[in-house]
Amino acid sequence: MEYSYLNLGHLSSILKIERGSNPYPWSELNFKDCLEQGYYSLALEDQTELVGFAIMAISTEESHLLNIGVREDLRGRGHGEAILKKMMTAAEVMGSKKVILEVRISNAIAYKLYEKLGFQEIAIRKDYYRLPEGREDAFVMSKSLKKGLKSKLFFTES
Ligand SMILES: CC(C)(COP(=O)(O)OP(=O)(O)OC[C@H]1O[C@@H](n2cnc3c(N)ncnc32)[C@H](O)[C@@H]1OP(=O)(O)O)[C@@H](O)C(=O)NCCC(=O)NCCS
Repeated sequence: MEYSYLNLGHLSSILKIERGSNPYPWSELNFKDCLEQGYYSLALEDQTELVGFAIMAISTEESHLLNIGVREDLRGRGHGEAILKKMMTAAEVMGSKKVILEVRISNAIAYKLYEKLGFQEIAIRKDYYRLPEGREDAFVMSKSLKKGLKSKLFFTES
């Protein structure tokens, strides 16, 4: 298994994951925009096959996990957890104080993953997600990161 930065070559595999797991999936344009914006985006690959991906807007105040997905036939094997841990490490190294995310209130599996990694529910965004018919609320979840990791890495005392 290897990590790489997401690129246009990953898009068709990502769209398959997205369309198979989301009632109102992101479009190809949504993913292209993320790549153009330079969001921190990782692909986990097994040889040439995409296993999973995640996209995060990183900033020093708070980083925002925008999307994460694992191929349906490879779920439940620790890949989602591994990818999310990588994203959190990246945010921490860049000096983020916390990571936030939204999750559909019906998405119990993703909620469990976030809870396992220490995310806590901090709010509900009403009607945040579109559905083919109507809207669905989102839980907003947050996890504080270790303070000062960036300064430890870049300004180590002798
Ligand atoms: C959410 C998702 C990324 C998890 O990836 P995964 O590789 O299947 O998850 P992992 O195997 O790493 O599991 C990590 C933890 O998640 C939770 N989890 C995973 N699958 C679960 C299941 N079927 N039921 C309950 N909890 C589950 C558990 O807490 C698990 O830890 P454990 O194995 O110690 O119990 C994956 O299910 C997915 O791609 N879903 C569709 C897209 C999606 O919903 N993205 C999130 C948008 S907010």
